[in-house]
Amino acid sequence: MQFFIDTANLDQIQEAQDLGILDGVTTNPSLMFKEGISGEQKILDHYLKICEIVDGDVSAEVIATDFDGIIKEGQALAELHEQIVVKVPMVKDGLKAIRWFADNDIPTNCTLIFSPGQALLAAKAGATYVSPFIGRLDDVSTDGLQLISDIRLIFDNYLFDTEILAASARHPMHIIECAKRGADVVTAPLSAMLALLNHPLTDKGLEQFLADHAKGNK
Ligand code: E4P
Repeated sequence: MQFFIDTANLDQIQEAQDLGILDGVTTNPSLMFKEGISGEQKILDHYLKICEIVDGDVSAEVIATDFDGIIKEGQALAELHEQIVVKVPMVKDGLKAIRWFADNDIPTNCTLIFSPGQALLAAKAGATYVSPFIGRLDDVSTDGLQLISDIRLIFDNYLFDTEILAASARHPMHIIECAKRGADVVTAPLSAMLALLNHPLTDKGLEQFLADHAKGNK
């Protein structure tokens, strides 16, 4: 399973890259706003900075919701850097745009997926990735992880190439469950990735080893 980091924060992207576990980055307009990145040129420059840090795919979201606007924005984003994946919302014109991008060899990430039917449509349109938002489904008392299993079953039934990019993962167990259910990629905040490191028995064991070494080497 690939690990993408879900942030536009350059320091956090660099930290995940330095850990040697990073395969890509996802951003969205809210994450860019959180970092204070606004204005067309600054946004494009920021995507370039992200591409310089990480080797893998970098999702950059379009703002337009009409077909012509999505194509225009998506083409500009794709021309920016070969690592850019155009992130397109799951709306009717977005679906048509995903087909257009697929026919023109431009990779896409269909975002805001909340049902198996939406994922199926995006895969049929030729999306490179679908992004089911598991945390936001959990927020409304719906089993987000079940959506990962449902999409996995459907994509395997029909051998779709579209990859499942589990999004809106909020904690380490989301990551583990996505791995168990066969998500191709999980995108998560750095805090959730770092939390995978922790186990109290690791801390206790290390403390004991270091104490015994110190006793034997006085
Ligand atoms: C995915 O691409 C989105 O950027 C993200 O995972 C949404 O996460 P949130 O629900 O925690 O905002």
